[in-house]
Amino acid sequence: MTADIIDGKAFAADVRARVADHVARLSADHGLTPGLAVVLVGEDPASEVYVRNKGRQTHEVGMHSVEHRLPVDTSEADLLALVAQLNVDPAIHGILVQLPLPDHLNSDLVINSIEPAKDVDGFHISNVGLLGTGQKSMVPCTPLGCLMMLRHHHGSLSGMNAVIVGRSNIVGKPMAQLLLGDSCTVTIAHSRTKDLPEVVRRADIVVAAVGRPEMVPGDWIGEGATVIDVGINRLPGEGGKTRLVGDVDYASAAEVAGAITPVPGGVGPMTIACLLANTLTACCRANG
Ligand code: GUN
Repeated sequence: MTADIIDGKAFAADVRARVADHVARLSADHGLTPGLAVVLVGEDPASEVYVRNKGRQTHEVGMHSVEHRLPVDTSEADLLALVAQLNVDPAIHGILVQLPLPDHLNSDLVINSIEPAKDVDGFHISNVGLLGTGQKSMVPCTPLGCLMMLRHHHGSLSGMNAVIVGRSNIVGKPMAQLLLGDSCTVTIAHSRTKDLPEVVRRADIVVAAVGRPEMVPGDWIGEGATVIDVGINRLPGEGGKTRLVGDVDYASAAEVAGAITPVPGGVGPMTIACLLANTLTACCRANG
């Protein structure tokens, strides 16, 4: 079997086009422009790339985009003061503080200082609790993008056996909540899981989110399973360049899977598209 490729790049372009359309109508009919503020502390190169892409795509869909770049030695008090100011700024509907923060800053404290209705990352403890209890919340962008691709590919996910490899707060745990919400039978596997290959092999849906390059080989994948690869790992490539690989060994997995997301061009583009969709949602909720 050769797997269908789930084209996240094309899907994300479609989501962005729909968001842009909605933004244009909001502006024409109600004089409203959704606004996203991104806060970057320090100069982590990977974060710089993410933040640049977010800013560009926010503009492209017609939203108001603000970037706050703070020095690496910014104090917690100064960062909290900036978030407090953004919380009450009527032109800002979404706030994203880029993670990871430098070690001297308490990420939980900073994230939980964001007004939950503006928490377009869905990381605030209130949004985590709302999602966990099946109530209306802001949903973390990466798992939301994965869910959208799975629904698009399968239609109903009801009764499917989903195995998530990785138990992070950002991807693994919210992914489990979302798949449960769609009536999957969900297992969260991790580095201590016994017989991990056997657990993964039983899955109809595998979501790999461990951050370890090509950790999941094709012989862990059940025949015909759908594989969603969240990993974005940078390895040294030819001529001093970096090569991006996922958490799944794509070549061997594509031989047995029914469908698979590539890296790059799978989950990655969907994450920013969902951030824009969340910002639009936050703006609409704020304005009734
Ligand atoms: N760093 C890497 N991915 C993310 C994300 O989705 N949100 C935030 N805030 N920081 C990140």
